[in-house]
Amino acid sequence: MTPKAGCTPLTLADYETLARSRMPAMAHAYFSAGAGEELGLAANLAQWRGWRLLPQVLNGRAAGGGTNIRLFGADLAHPFIVAPMALQRLAHSEGEAAVALAAAAQGGVMTVATESSVTIEDMARTSPGPLWFQLYPRHAFAQSLDLLRRAEGAGCSAIVVTVDAPLTPPRPREIRAGFHLPDGIAPVHLSQMAPPVFAALEDGESPVFDRLLTIAPDWDDIAKLRAATRLPLILKGILNPADAKRAVACGADGIVVSNHGGRLLDSLPTALEMLPVVADAVAGAVPLIVDGGVRRGEDALIARALGADAVMVGRPVLHGLAVAGARGASHVLRILRDELEVAMALLGLRTLADVSTDMLRQAPLMPNEPGM
Ligand code: FNR
Ligand code: LAC
Repeated sequence: MTPKAGCTPLTLADYETLARSRMPAMAHAYFSAGAGEELGLAANLAQWRGWRLLPQVLNGRAAGGGTNIRLFGADLAHPFIVAPMALQRLAHSEGEAAVALAAAAQGGVMTVATESSVTIEDMARTSPGPLWFQLYPRHAFAQSLDLLRRAEGAGCSAIVVTVDAPLTPPRPREIRAGFHLPDGIAPVHLSQMAPPVFAALEDGESPVFDRLLTIAPDWDDIAKLRAATRLPLILKGILNPADAKRAVACGADGIVVSNHGGRLLDSLPTALEMLPVVADAVAGAVPLIVDGGVRRGEDALIARALGADAVMVGRPVLHGLAVAGARGASHVLRILRDELEVAMALLGLRTLADVSTDMLRQAPLMPNEPGM
């Protein structure tokens, strides 16, 4: 159902529809794109539809219950963390500054991307809420350290190291839309830094293996980052249970089970598919966060039942931002929180700690649903 012009959007799908007409086609292509044929992107959305939640009735009074969680020592009003996303001024002139306000207004956390189009210092000045900083350790370690110190100096309360993207693949949807950075919008944290190795290629050299991957991070970089900060260190982009174990052994305080919103490779497993396996591997040693395709409040319950403590939300926040700046992004988070609250009441849950694996039912395939 398409929302009528002038009506208040009621769901995240309404925001997605409205956002399409509020953004230049090029920006819309950048935000929406997935890798390759976008089959991975479609699977990320479909994965949630594979589960149903079984209620328990007559559970009685629930005073004192709520959607709140405690994560890395902080009290949050709900489990919807804003995922790190680059270049948000493409969606709205205030970009990340507006999203930071939105996250704070809803009692949650925003993760600020290395490739943010507003500096972390400016955001810390204008937003009262907690900010996490996402670090791309793609550059020389001194540069990672410089970003880490800036994040600490700005008062960020956790560092999210993205480990799944030693390079950003070309995405057909962006290329077809002729995506390029408009004047005045840039990844501002990186503007002072030396660009990655782009010396002319010798005959037979590969731009991927002989250039980009020469600055790719490894586990030693994670160990160095671990030693360099007292902030919680969260590794984002883990799907493999062996990597999850190694992350814990390396001193990570948390893991984001993620396939990067389907933006890296078409044939990666979905995060939800790997979540129980990763949860099994880490056996409660650190909190798990999952992302990719979270579009309804009750998705946080499915995530929780499969082993996650919280979820990250990506594109929907950008849709809210494009439609109505800070108010729109804030409303998107509010819709999720409110939907979660209602879902908990209907399922007989007082707190998120009450969610259990027994509530999960695998959905039968419906004739018109895409295969899971
Ligand atoms: C991202 N994502 C991302 N992740 C990251 O670690 N660093 C980054 O700079 C970005 N940039 C980025 C830009 C855009 C436009 C999108 C859509 C996504 C991935 C992001 O953090 C998250 O993993 C996914 O977006 C989650 O999936 P959904 O909620 O968008 O389906
Ligand atoms: C992306 C990079 C910036 O997904 O992580 O666009």
